[in-house]
Formats: sequence, C-alpha cells, structure tokens
Amino acid sequence: MTQTDILVLGSTGKTGRRVAASLRARGASVRAAGRSAQVRFDWNDDRTWEPALTGVRAAYLVDRQDQPGAWDAEAEIGALAKLAVECGVRRLVLLQARTTGLVGGKDLGAGERGVRDSGAEWTVLRPNWFFQNFDEGVLLDAVRAGEIRLPTGDGREPFVDAGDVAEVAAAALLDDGHAGQVYDLSGARALTLAEAAEEISGARGRAVTYLPVAPDDYVAELLSYDVPADYAGFVADLAGQIRRNLNATPTDTVERVLGRAPRDFADFAREAAGRGAWDA
Ligand SMILES: NC(=O)c1ccc[n+]([C@@H]2O[C@H](COP(=O)([O-])OP(=O)(O)OC[C@H]3O[C@@H](n4cnc5c(N)ncnc54)[C@H](OP(=O)(O)O)[C@@H]3O)[C@@H](O)[C@H]2O)c1
Repeated sequence: MTQTDILVLGSTGKTGRRVAASLRARGASVRAAGRSAQVRFDWNDDRTWEPALTGVRAAYLVDRQDQPGAWDAEAEIGALAKLAVECGVRRLVLLQARTTGLVGGKDLGAGERGVRDSGAEWTVLRPNWFFQNFDEGVLLDAVRAGEIRLPTGDGREPFVDAGDVAEVAAAALLDDGHAGQVYDLSGARALTLAEAAEEISGARGRAVTYLPVAPDDYVAELLSYDVPADYAGFVADLAGQIRRNLNATPTDTVERVLGRAPRDFADFAREAAGRGAWDA
C-alpha cells in the first residue's frame, strides 16, 4: 500500500479545518477525520483508530484537553502515537498549547510525552490563544452580545491566527527540518482583552466591552450555568494564565517557519466583521 495521505484529526475544528486546507493547497492528499467526518475517528472508541491511521505517512493530532471531563492525555496520546508507528506513520505533528503544566488539575504537557516517546519524527505546536476564539470559538456569543466577561484582568496575550498555526503544521507535516522541534506560536502583538475588544468594536462598528471579573465570581457564574465544577475551575485557571502574563511575550516562530510575519489581529477583526461573523 502506498502511504500518500496525511491524516488530520479534528478536521472540523478551528485548526484542523485550516490544516487540511493548507495541505491541499500544497498538493497533498488529506484524510480528514473526526467523529462527524468522512473518516471516522473518535478518541472514545479505539476501534476507529487503526483504520484512520492505516495507509497514511503523517498525521496532525488534535486532542481534547480543553474539553470537560477527565481523561489521561499521556496514556491516550501515547497509545495512539504507538499505534501510528506500528501502522507505518512516520511523522506526527501534535497540537498542544503555549500553556503547559498543571492547569485546573489537568497536566497540559502530558500529551507531548507520548508523541516524543513514540519513535516517529515529531513536532509539537504550542500556540497562544487563537484569534478564532472571538469569531467561531468560545467567545463568539459574548462578542455578538457586546460584552466579554473574563477573569483575565489587564493581562496580555499575543493571540495567534489559527491559519498561521495551520500553515506551520502543514510545513512540519510536509517539509524537512521540523523534526524534534517544539514551536511556541504567537501573533506579533500582546493585547489585553480590553484592547482586543476595542479593536473588534472598531472593526464591526458596534461596541464590545471587556468586563474584568474576579476569578471566584467567574467560577460562580459558570456554575450557575450548570458547568461542571472541575471544568469551571479549569477554564478560570486558563484565563488566570493571561491575568498573570504567563505567556505574554510574542515569539518569532511563525516568521521563522513561514518566512513572513504572523497575521495581525486588526486584519483578522476587519475580515471577520466584513463577513458578518459578529452580526446579531
Ligand atoms: N482555542 C485556543 O485558543 C487554543 C489555544 C492553544 C491550544 N488550543 C488547543 O487546541 C485544541 C483544540 O483544537 P482546535 O481549536 O483546532 O479544535 P476545536 O475547534 O476546539 O474543535 C475540536 C475538534 O476536535 C474534534 N473532536 C472533539 N471531540 C472528539 C473526540 N472525542 N474524538 C475525535 N475528535 C473529537 C471535533 O470534531 P468532531 O466534533 O467532528 O469530532 C473538532 O474537529 C485543544 O487541545 C486546545 O487545548 C486551543
């Protein structure tokens, strides 16, 4: 069997969709997988793993570390990576986050270990928060409603475009020179949530305000919406990473890998507003 395809997990998500598009734009043949994709892959059903992995030469791995529920990232990603190598997959690119270590009781660095130990060529991507949280992810409804409430204080985050993350992933999947690299991926400017809201307000022509919330009040708010307590704590701790400026320094990795500057938040906001992403 020729191994021509590249498997993309999370292919309906913010990065996976763009990774598949970047690979196709470069002429690669993509096997887009997920629970609702043509090639079925479910982390909860390991019978779907081998068929998805068989016959591919490389794979883009997206886990579910930011979703509710406890799961053992190291064991699960390790098992998948090991199976991938047994199936003949030579290259693995794993999406993680700039935030590593223990956050709300979850070890956000755990997935990396399984991939590093797999025997495959590996690259780990560790991006900051995505621009796309504002127009397709967790903050979309808040932006549309005109008020972002988060416990991020006046901390800064160098938000990054999921498209830039995807192009770096495509480079790592297709080109040589990325094996054994851990890439911290950021945009060029570190913004407070208030500044991000102001840029979005300007672009959409309608005010979006940022309201800083105390961490305990934020958790209480999530609990009042029936969010499970452990997940509420996790989300609040994630926001606390921004409040404490833990990942606030921009990196030059996007520019080093892609040979161009990362996309700017203002361009993102203009484009998203133009296509009506925040229309009520
Ligand atoms: N958002 C951010 O700012 C940010 C920043 C840094 C890192 N990250 C990391 O990015 C990852 C998420 O990636 P993303 O934002 O590209 O995806 P996403 O937009 O959150 O979408 C999740 C993807 O995972 C798939 N999925 C969910 N549960 C699954 C399961 N049980 N089995 C198989 N597939 C499943 C979904 O597809 P189906 O529902 O179709 O299966 C979907 O394609 C997380 O690990 C997060 O920590 C996020």
